[in-house]
Amino acid sequence: MSSTLPSQHRALVLETIEAGFQVKQVPTPQPILGTAIVRIAASGVISYLREIYNGERQYPFPTPLVGGTSAIGHIAAVGPDATLLQPGQLVFVDCVVRGRDNPSVMYLPAIHEGLRDGSRKLMRDVWRDGTMAEFAKVPLENCIPLDEARLCRGLGYSLQDLMYLHYLLVPYGGLRDIKLEPGETVVVCPATGGFGGAGVQVAIAMGARVIAMGRNEKELARLKEHVKKGTLGANIETVKITGDEGTDTAALQAYGIVDAVLDFSPPAASKSTHLKSAIAVLRRGGRCSMMGLAEDVMPGFKVVLDDITLKGKFMYEREDMLQFVKILERGLFPTGKNFTDTKIFTLESWKEAFDAAAEHTGIGKSVVLTP
Ligand SMILES: NC(=O)c1ccc[n+]([C@@H]2O[C@H](COP(=O)([O-])OP(=O)(O)OC[C@H]3O[C@@H](n4cnc5c(N)ncnc54)[C@H](OP(=O)(O)O)[C@@H]3O)[C@@H](O)[C@H]2O)c1
Repeated sequence: MSSTLPSQHRALVLETIEAGFQVKQVPTPQPILGTAIVRIAASGVISYLREIYNGERQYPFPTPLVGGTSAIGHIAAVGPDATLLQPGQLVFVDCVVRGRDNPSVMYLPAIHEGLRDGSRKLMRDVWRDGTMAEFAKVPLENCIPLDEARLCRGLGYSLQDLMYLHYLLVPYGGLRDIKLEPGETVVVCPATGGFGGAGVQVAIAMGARVIAMGRNEKELARLKEHVKKGTLGANIETVKITGDEGTDTAALQAYGIVDAVLDFSPPAASKSTHLKSAIAVLRRGGRCSMMGLAEDVMPGFKVVLDDITLKGKFMYEREDMLQFVKILERGLFPTGKNFTDTKIFTLESWKEAFDAAAEHTGIGKSVVLTP
């Protein structure tokens, strides 16, 4: 089923890392079995997208490709096996591709080809392109329906603001994975980045008390104010990462029992001791979702004697997204500027967008490209 698709559309194409992106006219894909064609309204720009596409992060991906991660858009056409999705439906386009015949295959098209032959094959031959384009072909199951009437006209979210979902969903995946319960206390570290800040927002919405750790005291103060303004009675404390393990551990201990930790250490913080401090204050049976790239964190005796769970987590499950959308549609998140302040760029100004995203980061901040 399809509305009329143009034969060509504009897309942000990376021929080689050295050449950088160019806006090009490319053929519009057709909806075949198992796919949907989405008219993109906003494509998310994460804080370190520049580092991915200038090669600094050394993420493996083939070129040429259309750049981009997740997006918000409307279904333009669906393959013959669609049973729910129809043209006009608003959807969140998930950037995680999962092997349909192999649950071990999971990767990020246009970003990282994953660790297995199966994901490399899919990236090479089938699902390579991202969403920085007027239209994108995506797996049917990657389209998560959004109630546009409720979210946009009822709660007042703009399509661009809904892109903040791509930050919020990731910590939700980690927190759900370690079964965070309402009333529990969770340390989020570091909390001043894009995903870390979103983790604070999500944990508050899940009914937890949050201890947010970070190096930047000014940003920690902004984070606390943002949370308090958006959620009446929110339970939030902040602890500065000093670089001294003992000092940071003592500062966390002052807040009493800690049930869980959510870590988002970037490569630059892989040797920082903040995660060791956070794990050190976990109660017996405490859980830690390790979503970042921290190395050398294993406080052996503590983990063994206190039955601590250290659990890695890549992104989220499809079920997490469906559950999260229900929370958003019920109105359990702040709205307006208390949700997110979104900076909007065109495809042509991709460079400015990538630079802006590296600066305009942290809780309640988002950058999008609109084709
Ligand atoms: N598991 C997954 O599926 C998944 C998904 C998305 C992202 N990630 C990982 O999560 C990481 C963080 O994402 P993000 O969006 O929060 O990144 P970001 O926006 O780049 O922020 C980086 C954060 O790390 C802090 N930091 C940097 N260097 C540090 C150091 N030496 N010591 C202590 N803190 C330091 C920054 O603090 P300042 O504010 O003080 O600079 C900031 O809080 C990413 O780099 C990625 O590797 C994992």
